[in-house]
Amino acid sequence: MAERLVIFDTTLRDGEQSPGASMTREEKIRVARQLEKMRVDVIEAGFAAASPGDFDAIHAIAETIRESTVCSLARASEKDIERAGEAIAPAERKRIHTFIATSPIHMEKKLRMTPDEVVEQAVKSIGWARQYTDDVEFSAEDAGRSELDFLCRIFEAVIKAGATTLNVPDTVGYNLPQQFSETIRQLLLRVPNADQVIWSVHCHNDLGLAVANSLSAVLAGARQVECTINGLGERAGNAALEEIVMTVRTRPDIFAVDTAIDATQIVPASRLVSQITGYPVQPNKAIVGANAFAHESGIHQDGVLKHRETYEIMRAEDVGWKQNKLVLGKHSGRNAFKSRLSELGIVLASEEALNAAFARFKELADKKHEIFDEDLQALVSDETVTPAAEHYKLNYSQVSSETGETPHAKVTLSVGGQEQEAEASGSGPVDAAFKAIEHVAASGAKLLLYSVNAITTGTDAQGEVTVRLSKAERVVNGQGADTDIVIASAKAYINALNKLHSSQGRVNPQKGEV
Ligand code: KIV
Ligand code: ZN
Repeated sequence: MAERLVIFDTTLRDGEQSPGASMTREEKIRVARQLEKMRVDVIEAGFAAASPGDFDAIHAIAETIRESTVCSLARASEKDIERAGEAIAPAERKRIHTFIATSPIHMEKKLRMTPDEVVEQAVKSIGWARQYTDDVEFSAEDAGRSELDFLCRIFEAVIKAGATTLNVPDTVGYNLPQQFSETIRQLLLRVPNADQVIWSVHCHNDLGLAVANSLSAVLAGARQVECTINGLGERAGNAALEEIVMTVRTRPDIFAVDTAIDATQIVPASRLVSQITGYPVQPNKAIVGANAFAHESGIHQDGVLKHRETYEIMRAEDVGWKQNKLVLGKHSGRNAFKSRLSELGIVLASEEALNAAFARFKELADKKHEIFDEDLQALVSDETVTPAAEHYKLNYSQVSSETGETPHAKVTLSVGGQEQEAEASGSGPVDAAFKAIEHVAASGAKLLLYSVNAITTGTDAQGEVTVRLSKAERVVNGQGADTDIVIASAKAYINALNKLHSSQGRVNPQKGEV
């Protein structure tokens, strides 16, 4: 029997620390539900002390998720740990993940603490965390650049204090596979009470080695890997969950471990996270990229037709790839619509939201006769915005674009319930629409990114637009989908404005003090 490798997903915490990847409460709940469906062991739902909004999202996830453990990050301070403990309180299974930096550079320059003070603080924080749950994880931040003797000392102390999982992060992605596995081997050998805990790793991808480092640590005895969907995360990101899971599953001859993951949920999870964060998946990305199972060369195609395993080491359907499936059409009723949403794991907050989504589905089905799962996912993403968060709403738009003429847009928005109109010209129809919206909103936000993707194939496909805006150090992504890409763009811009309007300042756990 293969030993269990615990999958700890941090898409909602480290993933969300990627610029512009911040998610609303409802979006986080959708991602958490998908992670639970995929049978992730631990969901790091956020950093409770970051802001009241982050606290609230973790609390809501703790109320919703029943199968996976729900975890909150906390710096090694009593206040942070109290917030984390309160946020995860409703969860069936709960974990507090507390951390403090252990590398000389972090202790001296960031924390301004001596090594003795760091050990004392770490031990105290385990005691505080144990008041809320028996499942306590401790991370030695920047372990990848820490001294081995010091790591042994602090890990031994926190095990004695009651930590149950010990995490070894390569915070800045500096390690190489052989070096990192040696660190794990040494820790398991030299920490006297090492066998009482689960050893975990958390690798960043600055040198493109996050997955390789994590897997080499598993070979050395690590039994938890921290990872994210699509490898999202700070800077170059974290180890990609899909790559970790499929490597250990595809190579049982090398790995004596397996995970509980339902791999058929990997592609839906990847799509969901990409759609919500606006981070596209590169076509040649392993497992979840559009070309990951495409055979272009004639020789490869011929080989696969004769015997699939000539060029394929995994089956596309095993990781959740499906043919675009026609699911609904203009004659489909409310029940068929509702039951397809539930098969996709989408639960709308209220009957009103369901009715609104169904009305939008009917409108879409009039314009586009074949409705695919991807269309439904895009369609409901609008209904998961809470009405309170909808300060700006697009009521009407008219955009003209003619050869030889300057494109012009006229929009009517509802702003906090009051209708306002504006017109503007621009270098193209989208530019004109954005300028007209800005005349009304006067947000002064800077446009960082504008991207359009076709959700399915064909010229009647819906365009899915992502708009990234920044203002006063806050960066948000807005999404919009429609068969008319100018309208999709206007919706995406307004969605981003709503997020800027409702988002509060938040603390980055790794930039603050203890
Ligand atoms: O990269 C890191 O060190 C972290 C810790 C908070 C675990 O994200
Ligand atoms: Zn990290």
